[in-house]
Amino acid sequence: MSHDFSALLRTPLTERLGCRFPIVQTAMGWVADADLVIATTRAGGFGFLAGATIEAGKLEGEIRKVIEATGGSNFGLNFHMFQENAAQCVDLAIQYRLRAVSYGRGPDKKTIARFKEAGVLCIPTVGALKHALKAVELGADMITIQGGEGGGHTGGVPTTILLPQVLAAVKVPVIAAGGYSTGRGLASALAAGAAGIAMGTRFLMTTDSPTPPATLARYVKVDDPQKVRVTLAVDGMRHRMIENPFIDRLEAASPVGRLLIALKSAWAWKQQTGMSLGHMLGVFRQALKEDPGAVSQTVMSANQPVLLQRSMVEGFPDEGILPSGQVAAAIGELESCADVIHGIAAEAEDCLAALYARLGDETAAGRRADTEAAA
Ligand SMILES: Cc1cc2nc3c(=O)[nH]c(=O)nc-3n(C[C@H](O)[C@H](O)[C@H](O)COP(=O)(O)O)c2cc1C
Repeated sequence: MSHDFSALLRTPLTERLGCRFPIVQTAMGWVADADLVIATTRAGGFGFLAGATIEAGKLEGEIRKVIEATGGSNFGLNFHMFQENAAQCVDLAIQYRLRAVSYGRGPDKKTIARFKEAGVLCIPTVGALKHALKAVELGADMITIQGGEGGGHTGGVPTTILLPQVLAAVKVPVIAAGGYSTGRGLASALAAGAAGIAMGTRFLMTTDSPTPPATLARYVKVDDPQKVRVTLAVDGMRHRMIENPFIDRLEAASPVGRLLIALKSAWAWKQQTGMSLGHMLGVFRQALKEDPGAVSQTVMSANQPVLLQRSMVEGFPDEGILPSGQVAAAIGELESCADVIHGIAAEAEDCLAALYARLGDETAAGRRADTEAAA
């Protein structure tokens, strides 16, 4: 008797997000633009626009672009409540009745109630069990857990520990993220009870990604997961990225040295940071009197968008930062979003079919043993 294993890929995620496969393309600053979301949606996945880094004046245009290209609002918007245009993100998600919003530091109960009233699903990303519980209490419709191996800002709990913990503790559907790039990974997440997987790095490393070729080449080249590591040197938070000369210099420097690097990069792109020479010298003098380590961190944090743009938009991978999950080391080539999504779905079905076939084998073996014992 043949079985339709694709039915196992229909989950609360595909039902509620209205997509064909239980595969989410997460938001990534300066990467998850309208084109990436369009490619994901057309291939049957669910994509999030990176609302935290799309300029306020362009955000509505990007939303409309996806709607026009895909014929609907079956995609999501990611934002953080601490960004300047957070209220605009909330209003636009509601106005265009987007299917979902995702966020780290999330909106309050009142804002979540507005989303619910408009039918916009709230899907926060969490890196620890206690954050998952809090998110559910605030009204999350689904939760994405991101294990520590995931890219960008990330927690310290691996996916293999965090996923079962959260699955056991909450009733809403859980999406697994952090380290996924294969159908085997999707099959394992579904078998554990997740509603699907979400991936950042794998979608960044596609031919549909807007990231410049020189920077993408760096992602493809990395083959040692230890070289995709967490640093606190950029903004004091756990930030996973590919090791590069900029990060090495930053980490090796003394507090005063770090301050100089921070100010130098701020100065190099002063048009963007708006830093004058006088201001720069003032910060330096003040820092020497106070705590150069703390001041360099503040300057570096403010610089972060500039450092990200240098590598992710302008294409200078050694001069900025390269946020990435460890899974980049397991990805050897760029593929289209469609190939990634369809390949993962097909491999997951094969895995689940193989698991089921084992049951058949064991049943047959059991029958043989019973027959032999009876004889
Ligand atoms: C280049 C890059 C940029 C990211 N930017 C954001 C962001 O702006 N907002 C956010 O919530 N998560 C961001 N993340 C985290 C991803 O959305 C996602 O949760 C993570 O990549 C999942 O782990 P994976 O990389 O192993 O797939 C970023 C990740 C990467 C790799």
